[in-house]
Amino acid sequence: MSSVSETLDLAVRLARAAGGVQRERYETKLSIGTKSAPVDLVTEVDRRCEELIVETLARERGGDAILAEEGSRREATSGDWRWVIDPLDGTVNYAHGYPRFCVSIGVEHRGLRSVGVVYDPLLDELYHATAGGGAFRNGRPIRTSTESEIGRGLFATGFAYDVHRSENDNLDHFARFVKTARAVRRDGSAALDLCYVASGRLDGYWELKLHAWDVAAGALIVEEAGGRTSDLAGGPLPADGASVVASNGALHDAMLRLLANCAPDSPPRSPGIG
Ligand code: IPD
Ligand code: CA
Ligand code: CA
Repeated sequence: MSSVSETLDLAVRLARAAGGVQRERYETKLSIGTKSAPVDLVTEVDRRCEELIVETLARERGGDAILAEEGSRREATSGDWRWVIDPLDGTVNYAHGYPRFCVSIGVEHRGLRSVGVVYDPLLDELYHATAGGGAFRNGRPIRTSTESEIGRGLFATGFAYDVHRSENDNLDHFARFVKTARAVRRDGSAALDLCYVASGRLDGYWELKLHAWDVAAGALIVEEAGGRTSDLAGGPLPADGASVVASNGALHDAMLRLLANCAPDSPPRSPGIG
């Protein structure tokens, strides 16, 4: 039976190894393909990082379940652990040489978030958290900000790969924050956005249509840093990441109010009214 600390040590080792590959191949010529849409990219480095992580898990934790973005899926054959892996979060950035991307590894124990590790290989910043054990960057404890005014807050969001064709595109939500907050960033790595909320660099973050691997590690890191996570309606954060709001806690309800009834969920306005 594996312990939380063994699991954390392994997650850190895997994140550093995959991050090393990302650092080595950064700004080199890459083979790049597309997935669900022409803007949804996958590079050879996404695949290589996933292979490296999954092969090591097969050797060292053969009984554990795996869910990884580039297709590795395995049911548990023994034990109660599940590894939820985004081998490279921020692929569009990576493909363009924009220096903001990371490895994200979340591990659940009996269905509950137990360990989260996010590694930014260019800044050499490693975030980690364990349930009940606090959140850390490079071994130092981190806390969310104490800001309580949206107008003084710095926020981030992102847009799903169906943004060109879907009406549920987050643009109304984005516009409301742009008009209310101090500033809003869209920097292309959900896992790092969550870690930035956890460490107080951001006051809040929201996004629609994420996946389990985008949030598995970052959500635990936010919660363990004293922040709050939920879905868009304020309910528990869905494990599949379908909608995510993360904040320092103090700003959470104000964020939910700002995000409420955004298009296309809001009733259509009658012409000539409002
Ligand atoms: C994407 C990034 C991006 C977010 C997208 C995600 P990927 O993940 O986290 O910030 O806006 O919704 O899909 O594809 O780079 O792993
Ligand atoms: Ca991702
Ligand atoms: Ca990814």
